[in-house]
Amino acid sequence: MKKLFYLLFAVFIFGCNTNKEMIIFSPDYKIQVFISTENNELTYSIKKNEKSVIKTSRLGIILEEGIDLTKKFKIVNFKNRSHSEKWYPKIREVKEILNEYNEAIFEILSENKKLFLELRLFNDGVAFRYIIPNQKSIKKYDVIDEITEFNLSENDSAWWNPAFSYRRYEFLYANTKIDDISKKKYSELVEDISYDSIGIDAAQTPLTIKKNNGIFLSIHEAKLVDYSSMTLAPRGNGKLECELYPWSDGIKVKLKDKVKTPWRTIQIADSSGELLNSNIILNLNDDPDEKTDYSWVKTGKYMGVWWEMIGTNESTWWPSKYHGANNKKIKNYIDFASKNGFDGLLVEGWNEGWYPEWCCKGDGIPFSFTKSLNDFNFKKLSKYSSQKNISIVGHHETGGQIQNYENQLEEAFKLYQMMGVKYIKTGYVNDVSKNIKRIDINGNIHREWHHGQYMINHFKKVISLAAKYQLSIITHEPIKDTGLRRTYPNYISREGAKGQEFNGFSSNGVNHILDLPFTRLLSGPMDYTPGIFQLNNFRYTQPGSGVIDKNAIVPSTIAKELSLYIIIYSPMQMAADLPKHYKKHMEAFEFIKNVPVNWDDKIILNSKISEYLTIARKDSKSENWYVGGITDEKPREFELDFSFLDPDAEYDAKIYSDTENTHWKNNPMEYKISSKTINAKSKFDIYLAPGGGFAIEIVKK
Ligand code: NOJ
Ligand code: CA
Repeated sequence: MKKLFYLLFAVFIFGCNTNKEMIIFSPDYKIQVFISTENNELTYSIKKNEKSVIKTSRLGIILEEGIDLTKKFKIVNFKNRSHSEKWYPKIREVKEILNEYNEAIFEILSENKKLFLELRLFNDGVAFRYIIPNQKSIKKYDVIDEITEFNLSENDSAWWNPAFSYRRYEFLYANTKIDDISKKKYSELVEDISYDSIGIDAAQTPLTIKKNNGIFLSIHEAKLVDYSSMTLAPRGNGKLECELYPWSDGIKVKLKDKVKTPWRTIQIADSSGELLNSNIILNLNDDPDEKTDYSWVKTGKYMGVWWEMIGTNESTWWPSKYHGANNKKIKNYIDFASKNGFDGLLVEGWNEGWYPEWCCKGDGIPFSFTKSLNDFNFKKLSKYSSQKNISIVGHHETGGQIQNYENQLEEAFKLYQMMGVKYIKTGYVNDVSKNIKRIDINGNIHREWHHGQYMINHFKKVISLAAKYQLSIITHEPIKDTGLRRTYPNYISREGAKGQEFNGFSSNGVNHILDLPFTRLLSGPMDYTPGIFQLNNFRYTQPGSGVIDKNAIVPSTIAKELSLYIIIYSPMQMAADLPKHYKKHMEAFEFIKNVPVNWDDKIILNSKISEYLTIARKDSKSENWYVGGITDEKPREFELDFSFLDPDAEYDAKIYSDTENTHWKNNPMEYKISSKTINAKSKFDIYLAPGGGFAIEIVKK
């Protein structure tokens, strides 16, 4: 009944229309999209509760051979429907997702060329995409430009990091006015990238905006397949325009025939916390192909021979007296991980190709993905790990040498499958702009962007082939998440932001972790690699030096590191520190052992963008809840309200928190553990130290 009502309403508005403007409503009527062909331009604008979300913004695409689909528009047909369905992700952050929207499909002529604009309005945002079907009057479908605009207001505030720059998504966030999105401004405020001048000024997506009228937005894209990724370039007066990463010859997207763009998405919320509840991106992707079995995909927790290279700097990836991935050490890690109930152990530096200067120019000695180093006995370790119920998490650092990786892909996957490996962490470190080497069929070398169509297609190739060998992939230096993990459940996690690693070899500063949930994490799970317990005096000046680098600190507290298992969703979650550091704090480690990675429910208990956040999550396998809270450099006290608990039950709460003396800078490792019996009526205060946090395990009695 409700469904029918939406439909009639939309048709009514269309039927009454005389001024070339149509209005489509979200299912709850709060969001309105206005589509117009006034002045022969195709435009849209969005309002929520009468407040402006997006002002009149142009739509259109330019194809090869002067096919200009940006003007002379006429809407010739219009279809609409309403959709409402619940679906149940297998790998999940929440048990049930509602996919409810009103859809309008506009058939449009631009002169004699036909295109469709597909528009969906959800209660929490808007999505649209272009479809240019095969037609006689278009011979080539390569995309030269997409002119999609997002016209905001001058005073709206954006949280962004730079596109078209050297370090992919691994940047801190700048918070500026929209018109200030530029390398110059970023260099003034955050990090000097002014020398990196090949690309234009633009921001990556998801881009988070707080509008002057109080509305929060996240502009992103969904279902990025066989296309180039979207960035947002400022055009003055608060206007942003889609800029796609081009191929080295300037063409943005190369297509054999018809164009189907990714969905352009605008998530709309009344508060920063509400933004975290949107499932639009997943809703715009498809379920897995029914013929492909993904029942083998398993979530889990893993440790790694990793932090000792990147963080404590006591070992090397390459052969040396201090080589980390050696049989003896790996066995010790396996023993510790197994004893503490982990599922996997990452082993980096097991293969040939590592040498001290391996990083970061996309050239140099290419890696082998099948040949092990001498002190790594793959067969024996694989047998040992399987006896201990641990799966080795394989590692493929490509150094951004794609051809070299693709040449070995099948053999490498076969080897890993044979050795019982279930997960592979891949890596694409290449810290130079537009520097992914592509070798064409004539053997000529071209340099491509990390986020262009060449790489989008590469990531897709890897994930599809990995499924054939029942391998799940955790990509570092990935392409952004646009929800394809719904279709390819083995795309289990990814990095794609400044993660913990930077706190090892440099620093993210104390406040970055407060930006992540409101920016990058809106797109999907992150392999941030939390759980560092030795937060200072951990890093050696070099392997074997025995000299501690006193300046190296992880700007966090132990209680905050625990909270990150709740704050940051990832179906594969790492405990990143070394066993010897965990052994000093086994009581706190208990939380990492117990915390689940699959959830039934998520509740945002409080939030202020870039300042603080508290999330409660319900375990998928029990009636237990887990709560995590974080603050920026300011100390805070929260009153926690447990009214989300079952009103008829009692619970044991184990609280891991900072003490009055804890401080991220000079006393980060002091924490306390307390217990309480609580129920749905309980409320209590909790203190978060400067740069700190807390974690609570709530077990139903
Ligand atoms: C960068 C990745 O993010 C890190 O986790 C990895 O250890 C290095 N590359 C080496 O592959
Ligand atoms: Ca990285």
